[in-house]
Amino acid sequence: MQVLMVASECAPFIKTGGLADVVGALPDALSSLGIGSRILLPAYPALQPLLSGGKQVALFDDLPGGYGQVVLVTAQGIELLLLDAPQLFDRPGLPYTDPDGKDWTDNHLRFGALAQAAARIGLDGVDGWEPDIVHAHDWQAALTPVYLKQSGRPEPKSVLTIHNIAFQGRFGPHVLAELGLRGDWFHPEALEFHGDLGFLKGGLMFADRITTVSPTYAREILTPHYGMGLEGVLQSRADNLSGILNGIDTTIWDPATDPALSVGYNARSLGRKAENRARIAERVGLDQNASGPLFCVISRLTEQKGLDALAEAIPDIVAGGGQLAVLGSGDVALERAFTEAGERFAGSVGTVIGYDEAFAHLLQGGSDAILIPSRFEPCGLTQLYGLRYGTIPIVARTGGLADTVIDANVAALNAECATGFVFGDVSANGISEVLNRVFDTFSDKKKWQVMQRAAMRQSVGWDQSAKAYAQMYRDLSE
Ligand code: ADP
Ligand code: GLC
Repeated sequence: MQVLMVASECAPFIKTGGLADVVGALPDALSSLGIGSRILLPAYPALQPLLSGGKQVALFDDLPGGYGQVVLVTAQGIELLLLDAPQLFDRPGLPYTDPDGKDWTDNHLRFGALAQAAARIGLDGVDGWEPDIVHAHDWQAALTPVYLKQSGRPEPKSVLTIHNIAFQGRFGPHVLAELGLRGDWFHPEALEFHGDLGFLKGGLMFADRITTVSPTYAREILTPHYGMGLEGVLQSRADNLSGILNGIDTTIWDPATDPALSVGYNARSLGRKAENRARIAERVGLDQNASGPLFCVISRLTEQKGLDALAEAIPDIVAGGGQLAVLGSGDVALERAFTEAGERFAGSVGTVIGYDEAFAHLLQGGSDAILIPSRFEPCGLTQLYGLRYGTIPIVARTGGLADTVIDANVAALNAECATGFVFGDVSANGISEVLNRVFDTFSDKKKWQVMQRAAMRQSVGWDQSAKAYAQMYRDLSE
């Protein structure tokens, strides 16, 4: 069984969020189940150095946006098919935005080209390699099933995974022709979404199977509150929709061997987290020798993540004797709010604005708890890293957060199976309330350590979920 993954991000090569971690980790997990995979990825500047060591396996001169070659390379054990179309992908900035933070105006061409290249590889193979399944991720790859069906040829089966329905790839109707899409499919039962062309909408209509990244989110997106306008489409395809929980790469995220920590530790040497905490305090300017809990945030700073509510609750963290270390970037107003909190509560709150993979690891290694008050969260990975590092997740009851954290209610505490704190109300009040519970539990060192150990025992790797994907691929290709 061979799978062509199609995605716009893949860790460790190019990452803006959890999508990259998932796409980077899944192939290895699948290979131990006898499933081979290759990832079709745009050759952004970060990938350009790999091209010279690869082999050209396809050349297209009529993709949306023009020419593109496909180069096969193996890097960090992952087989990549790099779509090298410099006019589309070899430019400064981030994958989706220019250096000023604005969406690239030709994103429809850039990701239309990715999807069309994927469909052609799916139909014709490359270099003797023929995928049985084409698995597209998020809106950037979502036209792949559309192009496959449009070919009218016998096609491999397609899967579309929704990592975040907030990003839908919506463009004016004029782009239909530029993308070589069938004009007679521009209606609500196919590609049209409220007068526009919807990349994700089209993919959801044409994919053979739809998955998302947790069972709870799979249910949530059938409702208007979470479906963001696509709930009707999803309801119509509900028989083909399922939720498969993300895992994490437990080799990269291992507190015993993590090179980003100043001291490694395991469930029996949790006291060593203190050394990592001291490094964090140095880095962000927190008072050393504080006895209250150190909370951390590692996140895109956006509305989704509920961090505006957290910013309002910061005085309560400080009043309770806690400290807060924040690593993130995104909305300017949120960046400012956390930077100002760092100034106002100097010694208790420290903020790093930016993206820093090594510091993200250190924060997990040295903090007592990680705060994730998301308004919606398809899966979420940072709570899984938290569990693995004995860094207690404090999460909103939504999506994958609800599926992966066992709340420290009285019964769960007594049964010693609690792994975190789950709360319902994403507001400053809701956060303050849950913080009362956290402070209370933290003051009982033994209780806290029992929770840390339960968290570290929880299985967060890919084993189960890779099996679920493998089963789905097999069902589809029968
Ligand atoms: P999302 O994909 O919605 O951003 P996830 O929790 O699924 O949320 O994944 C976020 C990933 O990005 C995690 O690997 C997290 O550690 C990482 N991350 C987020 N912000 C930063 C940052 N500022 N620096 C380093 N890593 C970050
Ligand atoms: C998205 C979601 C996040 C999920 C990640 C990987 O970015 O926001 O919840 O964990 O994709 O699937």
